[in-house]
Amino acid sequence: MRVLVINGPNLNLLGRREPAVYGRRSYAELEDYINRCAAELGLTVEIVQSNHEGVLVDRIQEAADRFDAIVINPAAYTHTSVAILDALRAVGLPAVEVHLSEPLEREEFRRVSYAGLACEKRFAGHGFDSYRLALAYLRGRENADT
Ligand code: DQA
Repeated sequence: MRVLVINGPNLNLLGRREPAVYGRRSYAELEDYINRCAAELGLTVEIVQSNHEGVLVDRIQEAADRFDAIVINPAAYTHTSVAILDALRAVGLPAVEVHLSEPLEREEFRRVSYAGLACEKRFAGHGFDSYRLALAYLRGRENADT
């Protein structure tokens, strides 16, 4: 199973960015962590990060023929982007929403998730582990299909 992991704006600043909320580990460490989890689960992953909404839409569109599933942390675009929601719906791949923090326990404006409307599962508030849970979910889903 090939999984595209998509990370949105400001996640490249992990480690420096609001460490009390997002932790002290860097984005490179998050990539290592995701790659290790994927290897343990027997999944092939590609990880992309962008600060630009249109780039994220392009990556989702391009995933259609190249991947079997998407794990997405749209970051701030979670709460604003109908374009990302529409792109996820357009490609129709199984998608899982992840967040390092739990947006539902933060400011009111973080309670809306547009992308989440196109995702079949959500893992939030577990730090890096949210990604492992998402990959393990997709792995389990694949087993159930076969
Ligand atoms: C986030 C939560 C979002 O509300 C925020 O805008 C982010 C990161 C998370 O992973 O906890 O940038 O998606």
